[in-house]
Amino acid sequence: MEIRDYLNHQKKRVDEALDLLFQKETRREYGVLAEGIRYSLLAGGKRIRPVLALATIEALGVDSEPLLPLVLPLELIHTYSLVHDDLPSMDNDDLRRGRPTNHVVYGEAAAILAGDALLTHAFTLLSDPVYDSILSYSRRISVIYELSVASGLAGMVGGQFLDIVSEGRSLTLQELENLHRHKTGALLRASVRIGALLGGAGETEMAGLTRYGEAIGIAFQIADDLLDVEGTAAEMGKAIGKDAGKHKNTYPGLVGVDRARALAEEKRQEAHEAVALLGMKGEPLRDLASYIIERRN
Ligand code: IPE
Ligand code: IPE
Ligand code: MG
Ligand code: MG
Ligand code: MG
Repeated sequence: MEIRDYLNHQKKRVDEALDLLFQKETRREYGVLAEGIRYSLLAGGKRIRPVLALATIEALGVDSEPLLPLVLPLELIHTYSLVHDDLPSMDNDDLRRGRPTNHVVYGEAAAILAGDALLTHAFTLLSDPVYDSILSYSRRISVIYELSVASGLAGMVGGQFLDIVSEGRSLTLQELENLHRHKTGALLRASVRIGALLGGAGETEMAGLTRYGEAIGIAFQIADDLLDVEGTAAEMGKAIGKDAGKHKNTYPGLVGVDRARALAEEKRQEAHEAVALLGMKGEPLRDLASYIIERRN
């Protein structure tokens, strides 16, 4: 299957499952807050994190259908991170996923709370007794641990703080890689590792998949930084050219566009090699690594 068709197919599955969350009853009770949550969640992101988890489960030869609800938390956490990332006190952005940002429409307090609700709901889903028959407690605890570490201080939250406090101060390449590894890499790595846990990966598979997740995690943010320089707002659904304006630390800013692209290419190679052990079943993962650095949005 072509990667485009593969992505559309998996994204559709994820979108349909996400649409079942925060349904009518919630909206009746929590009104505009629930509306704001759905506004950001269903605005049409690429769904790359849950798709990576599904691709990993399938690469292990396991049916992903019953496990679909358990990969949604990755998108809930990611969407929360975007809603907060756009706040005036963070990146102060007005456009996201092709729409005015959450705080522009609903106000800052509601945007903060929408993010908080998305974050906590991720763990409600993972611990919900309705999934008792789908995944053992011990494996679910491992998934919860993976997701919470990747999202918190040792992961995305810590990385976002590094990003903000290093604005206007030039980092070394090593410091920049550390920043990217935390703010973006951690959740992408966790997406693959959670897929691996859900699919029952053995030790060797887990090691390869972890290396894959780490490589694409860095590559993803290098591509995002490059697109901020070279992309278009129409394709990206968010403002571009803002990183330089805010004196953000980025790969193209630090090493130039060509070198940044070469580094992303190195990460693609690393990712491909890391999942060679999966044979033909690993093909979608290899294609996803290529897509991550070649994408236009
Ligand atoms: C944007 O993430 C923020 C970064 C971590 C670079 P995505 O590029 O995955 O955004 P959506 O989910 O497709 O909107
Ligand atoms: C944000 O990185 C990463 C997150 C954890 C949300 P950016 O600030 O570069 O993401 P965009 O470019 O606004 O999507
Ligand atoms: Mg940011
Ligand atoms: Mg931002
Ligand atoms: Mg960016």
